[in-house]
Amino acid sequence: MSLNKMDELKLDWDVARSETAEVEGILLTKKTCDQWNKIWNFRASPNDLLIATYAKAGTTWIQEIVDMIQHDGDLKKCKRANTYERQPFIEWVLQRPLSSGLELAEAMPPPRTLKTHLPTQLVPPSFWEQNSKIIYVARNPKDCLVSYYHFNRMNQKMPDPGTWEEFIEKFMDGKVLWGSWYDHVKGWWEAKDNHRILYLFYEDMKENPRCEIQKVLEFLEKDLNEGILDKIIHHTTFQIMKDNPMANYTSLPPAIMNHSISPFMRKGDVGDWKNHFTVAQNERFDEDYRKKMAGATLTFRTEL
Ligand code: A3P
Repeated sequence: MSLNKMDELKLDWDVARSETAEVEGILLTKKTCDQWNKIWNFRASPNDLLIATYAKAGTTWIQEIVDMIQHDGDLKKCKRANTYERQPFIEWVLQRPLSSGLELAEAMPPPRTLKTHLPTQLVPPSFWEQNSKIIYVARNPKDCLVSYYHFNRMNQKMPDPGTWEEFIEKFMDGKVLWGSWYDHVKGWWEAKDNHRILYLFYEDMKENPRCEIQKVLEFLEKDLNEGILDKIIHHTTFQIMKDNPMANYTSLPPAIMNHSISPFMRKGDVGDWKNHFTVAQNERFDEDYRKKMAGATLTFRTEL
């Protein structure tokens, strides 16, 4: 059953925050863990496209860009359904009778575009076996952390983030849903050497969307004219997406996402962490970052 239908029927929403559990040491919702066998055994097809990100890295943004590309810039087609229905989130499970992301994915004929926040080691093996294309977007950790903190506040199906100070510690310890940001970005960075993965950065997308969208076009083997490219750039700006009900998650009831606490489309900026971290928090974070990222060939462009 779709979310809209459930709202129409005025079904009771479970108001409790999600319980959590772990798969191979990675924190996930208990509902996801309960369905883990099915998720792990999901059958991808060679022409499926997987959009993989750590939470809050700009997933919805790249999803909209990809959908626009796949539909040759046809806005009407891209407004056919909500983001989460167009591109199912394979490990996300809500309360019954809502369909899980996996069920939505299974009901969709390939080629599908699917979304995941899973680290590489938890991605269903068929994606690797089938050599499906994957687009990964990484975002600098401080902005990711800030965005994740506000998202945990507003998304009533996420664990309670606690205070800002507590959340920084949880993030650094990887005790948040989908585990350690550090391991996630590094794991996917390494995976790109052996698989068909386009690895993008949120900060590059902000700085030069045309250039980054061109990379997506090439990766998807699409050739669109400049006019369509301009249209895609415009339609996927933060301001336009913020006002697009099919992309801004306002269709979900407040029992799931409460936009009055913090909107899903919050700021869409690079460097908002400077409005959140104290000098001491920043120093502590940087020191920890250097240790966790030591030896990695991956670098982030914002000041760390
Ligand atoms: P902020 O909370 O910093 O504003 P995800 O889709 O992975 O959950 O990421 C959400 C983050 O991406 C939010 O960050 C959101 O505002 C930002 N975002 C969404 N669409 C965007 C766009 N078109 N341009 C820039 N940022 C965007």
